[in-house]
Amino acid sequence: MNAELGSTEHPLRVAIVGSGPAGFYAAGQLLASQDPVVRVDVYDRLMTPWGLVRFGVAPDHPKIKSVTRVFERTARMPGFAFHGNVEVGTDVTHEELAAAYHAVLYAVGTPGDRRLGIEGEDLPGSESATEFVAWYNGHPDYADTDFDLSGRRAVVIGNGNVALDVARMLALSVDELRVTDIADHSLDLLRRSSIEEIVVLGRRGAAQAAFTNPELRELADLELADVIVDPADVELDAASAALIETADGTIQRNVETLREYSQRPPGGKPRRIVLRFLTSPVAIEGTDRVEALVVERNELVADADGTLRARPTGARERLETGLVFRAVGYVGKPLPGVPFDDRRATVLNEGGRVLDPETRAPIPGLYAAGWIKRGPSGVIGTNKKCAQETTGRLLEDVAAGVLPTPSDTPEALLERLRTRVAVVDYSGWEAIDAHERALGEPSGRPRVKLVSRDEQLKRATTIA
Ligand SMILES: Cc1cc2nc3c(=O)[nH]c(=O)nc-3n(C[C@H](O)[C@H](O)[C@H](O)COP(=O)(O)OP(=O)(O)OC[C@H]3O[C@@H](n4cnc5c(N)ncnc54)[C@H](O)[C@@H]3O)c2cc1C
Ligand SMILES: NC(=O)c1ccc[n+]([C@@H]2O[C@H](COP(=O)([O-])OP(=O)(O)OC[C@H]3O[C@@H](n4cnc5c(N)ncnc54)[C@H](OP(=O)(O)O)[C@@H]3O)[C@@H](O)[C@H]2O)c1
Repeated sequence: MNAELGSTEHPLRVAIVGSGPAGFYAAGQLLASQDPVVRVDVYDRLMTPWGLVRFGVAPDHPKIKSVTRVFERTARMPGFAFHGNVEVGTDVTHEELAAAYHAVLYAVGTPGDRRLGIEGEDLPGSESATEFVAWYNGHPDYADTDFDLSGRRAVVIGNGNVALDVARMLALSVDELRVTDIADHSLDLLRRSSIEEIVVLGRRGAAQAAFTNPELRELADLELADVIVDPADVELDAASAALIETADGTIQRNVETLREYSQRPPGGKPRRIVLRFLTSPVAIEGTDRVEALVVERNELVADADGTLRARPTGARERLETGLVFRAVGYVGKPLPGVPFDDRRATVLNEGGRVLDPETRAPIPGLYAAGWIKRGPSGVIGTNKKCAQETTGRLLEDVAAGVLPTPSDTPEALLERLRTRVAVVDYSGWEAIDAHERALGEPSGRPRVKLVSRDEQLKRATTIA
């Protein structure tokens, strides 16, 4: 290692791209290092940090969002800086970052949505959960998105927690929603919603659902909605029954909860969430917009490695609906100049070290963490361990002396950047944060989110 690199006078300079959980966990881990001493610049394309904690986690789950207190402590550590409103790949290139820092760590998440690949998927009324979630959480890119909630039935495809979030958001009462930080435009539209039935479709069985227990159980507490499960859907096939004997507790408890729901008589509430299993979407029908979803019954068959997969039985049914949400997973997008693994839709990496696509050797000074490293699964805490693996390797590479010597400095880069975009620093975010909290206070809400970039920028640059 260069004798001086990592001293207080010549700290290791790391750029982290993305201020979600992975970016912030990585920043905290690096800043905790005494030898080498590290300075971290976190860049985000938005003026507001926290990634999906702000724009993914459902508004009625405020406790989960309190993880931001951990990230706020990181932001107060010496050597930390936030540069919001800077999109890497647009406002600044990867090459510019790589030239200015000893290391660049990508933690940009996976912003796209997986598609179903069925006929009619592009009709109006066929929507992605990704956009719906971003819309109700006040993401500035989705402020003008519109959803037609005038029909009686919505169908949500997928059996993960995002599908449950979407179903719950459609089922919650205005009283339950108005005390949250839901975007005001969404509260207005949901207030006028005519949706009475939300059907959630799992292509495999009850024992294969990817829900976590609290998320499945809390459906029972909804003020306005009954949860309906057909008892036949929770009678497990022999392979699934054997699986739950040895499976982790989450699957066993999910099946127990679903069995309990299947035995419960409906409580006469005005809305219902219907959880259906072994059912796949086949086609979306409609002339100018969605009118119906054709679904097909599946059976489970074990593939070569024993995984139970859905196989269509040919038994089809037509569900009348004007609104179909696909909640079948997120997808990573390539960043110009950063090697990408097309098959996994992640940055091409091994344990967080980004690899050269030709040689498959690690590219010195280039790293990834979070969903863009391992794919779009795992809860907030999963990213802590994931970031730990990456920052551990980064520090190993520092010790091995393999990091490149920058030809530019972060200060010079930032000076150039400020001529291109209005860079919002951490105090700018704090001004937005304080303003949003103050707006929420009179009505007992945690905050009222500013959703327009202009408003955010105005607040970020207003001297208190
Ligand atoms: C709808 C939804 C709800 C969820 N709810 C929960 C929950 O209740 N509890 C729980 O534990 N987990 C939840 N999760 C999972 C959790 O949010 C993720 O595990 C976590 O956010 C992934 O972290 P990340 O840092 O990899 O990505 P992200 O959180 O997506 O952060 C990525 C950041 O990178 C920024 N970025 C992207 N591209 C660029 C670029 N080119 N230049 C600069 N910045 C860029 C983005 O603006 C964003 O701030 C939920 C996930 C979803 C999708
Ligand atoms: N409250 C929370 O803690 C919370 C909230 C939201 C999200 N999260 C986390 O965020 C991560 C992402 O959640 P997610 O719901 O997007 O993903 P997920 O958990 O991977 O679930 C995706 C679901 O989509 C199904 N699917 C995929 N392709 C399909 C197709 N073509 N047709 C029908 N179904 C299809 C999958 O079924 P198969 O299993 O058959 O593939 C699976 O049920 C998860 O780790 C989740 O736990 C947590």
